[in-house]
Amino acid sequence: MTPASRSPILAADADGIRRAARQLRDGGLAALPTETVYGLAARADTDASVAAIYRAKGRPSFNPLIVHVGSTQQAEDLAHFDERARALASAFWPGPLTLVLPLREGARLAKAVTAGLPTVALRCPAHPVMRAVLEQAGVPVAAPSANRSGAVSPTTAEHVATSLAGAVDLILDAGPCAAGVESTIVALRSGGWEILRPGPVTENHLAAVLGVAPLASGGRHGIEAPGQLASHYAPGKPVRLEATWADPDEFLIGFGDVAGHLSMSARGDLEEAASRLYAVLHEAASAVQPRIAVAPIPKSGVGSAINDRLRRAAA
Ligand code: TXA
Ligand code: MG
Repeated sequence: MTPASRSPILAADADGIRRAARQLRDGGLAALPTETVYGLAARADTDASVAAIYRAKGRPSFNPLIVHVGSTQQAEDLAHFDERARALASAFWPGPLTLVLPLREGARLAKAVTAGLPTVALRCPAHPVMRAVLEQAGVPVAAPSANRSGAVSPTTAEHVATSLAGAVDLILDAGPCAAGVESTIVALRSGGWEILRPGPVTENHLAAVLGVAPLASGGRHGIEAPGQLASHYAPGKPVRLEATWADPDEFLIGFGDVAGHLSMSARGDLEEAASRLYAVLHEAASAVQPRIAVAPIPKSGVGSAINDRLRRAAA
């Protein structure tokens, strides 16, 4: 069998969803659409399945995975929720928010999912296809982004196929992801809360629900979240940020008034830019120019997540 034929791309219809759920129950790997990016999914309660994720991605084992659940109730079986966690879950789940919470004693999760930490990262996704698969699989599902570790994240089934061809049992194609950047990760600590990874749910959204500002250390990524490596989302070429023009050997990614070879959002819309970020990085990676330049992106709202990913792509 050719590698491509071992990773069939299926339509995300009732039959595709059934096959993906069966694949997960049987311990296999399925690449699934979520509202943020495509995830490389496996059941989170089985050592061998979780090991297969790390192997397929080439991911360092000290970098724990996000566990996806179909409901807050299922999440409460795995972690201890306090009032703040319940408030956030009820405001933003299902949706692009991941909560880092104390792991419950006896929670049925493979050790490698949490990389031995006393906490677990939990997310209840909103994408109807992912929700249907979770419901039919009936188990918690670990799902990092469906790309080789350190590479640009996938927002289409084709991105997955290019990065992981042959390494995944099937890919469900539900078109491009709407949000386009990974979920916001929030840690709730005894002294306050902190954003470990900025994402579609912004600091203002969170503060409005929690009623207090984040801890001063918030945004200092790479300290508490083992996976927040400085270099990530790497397109395989040097990346120059805050560019308003292109050198002859650069592919310029535009935004707003900076047109570029390809724009993240010609009308300067941050949500549109987030949804197109990884697609334009993939394009830039396969362009003829040996270097990439990126226009300045405002830091407000989801712009914070876009700038976070761009900094890592440039590192
Ligand atoms: O949008 C998303 O969240 C996507 C889609 C597929 O759902 N998933 C995703 O998962 O981005 P992953 O595994 O690529 O991201 C895991 C991140 C890592 O940066 C890791 O360090 C952090 O979550 N993480 C996981 N468990 C943690 C924990 N117990 N404490 C702190 N950070 C944790
Ligand atoms: Mg990732």
